[in-house]
Amino acid sequence: MSEQLLTVVVNKREVQGKDVVVLELTAPDGQLLPEFDAGSHIDLHLSNGLVRQYSLCGDPAQQQSYRLGVLKDPNSRGGSQAVFDTLMPGVALEISAPRNLFPLTENSPKTILVGGGIGVTPMIAMAHRLHQLNQPFELWYCAHDRAECGFVDELQSAPFSDNVTCYFTTEHDGKRLDFNAVLADGVSAEKKLGAHLYVCGPDNFMQCVLDTAQALGYSDEQLHREYFSAEVETGGNSFEVVAAQSGITIRVEEDQTIAQALKAAGIKVPVACEQGTCGTCLCDVLEGTPDHRDVYLTDEEKEDNDQITLCCSRAKSARLVLDI
Ligand code: FES
Repeated sequence: MSEQLLTVVVNKREVQGKDVVVLELTAPDGQLLPEFDAGSHIDLHLSNGLVRQYSLCGDPAQQQSYRLGVLKDPNSRGGSQAVFDTLMPGVALEISAPRNLFPLTENSPKTILVGGGIGVTPMIAMAHRLHQLNQPFELWYCAHDRAECGFVDELQSAPFSDNVTCYFTTEHDGKRLDFNAVLADGVSAEKKLGAHLYVCGPDNFMQCVLDTAQALGYSDEQLHREYFSAEVETGGNSFEVVAAQSGITIRVEEDQTIAQALKAAGIKVPVACEQGTCGTCLCDVLEGTPDHRDVYLTDEEKEDNDQITLCCSRAKSARLVLDI
């Protein structure tokens, strides 16, 4: 399951706001990079061995460079700190090809993009795409303080700036945006309008937006979310995993993840977030019942029990057979 990596070079680096670094990555020979869809991310393979995912925030119509924004997280497990400390102009690094786990429905009657803080990055790529398609959309960028944020100037001067509202709580007596008012238009009394809502940001921010949408009558199909961190419950009973393609059976110990146990047995599973948020480690389940610990799969998908995230989920049954 080894994937082909691309080598790129940091072409531009700019610190915006307080702790947001905006990077532009290009091919070393100036060739075009593989194309990407709005909502895609890439994995950065950092010099300290960590692999971290960041959404692409450039215009998907251009392939000269990949653009991304990284917030220096005070609780960094080493990823964002390494980005800040090591990715200077001229530095080469390996990245994955773009993957899209947050795809945009391009023909919905209305699209509402809501980004909390650095969660605005995938929304910027989506806004470029919807603008190019001339589709109706709104982009709501919510954050605490204007001076601390990245992307404010470029959103206010973007060709789609009329569709953008920047909302900073410090400019509204500390009050959060009225999500009820923002989302109310997205669903008619007959529940027929069918606007699609995309949200990314801190967990409590996302929960508030999604709870509001659900209370207004948005269906699961209308709601799209991308988490960038989550509390994952770890550990549990030991169980057996059969890797059907490899013909190997392993034991996952109480303090191991399935991905770790597979790796110890020589089966390398791609992982990135290791928190059940990104879906990189998703695998089909052929037999057995998963104990889902991730936030990536929807409740409906979890009920189907035919997929599992190997970085954090476990088993309710004594044995899982995986398509790996
Ligand atoms: S590595 Fe991200 S969900 Fe498992």
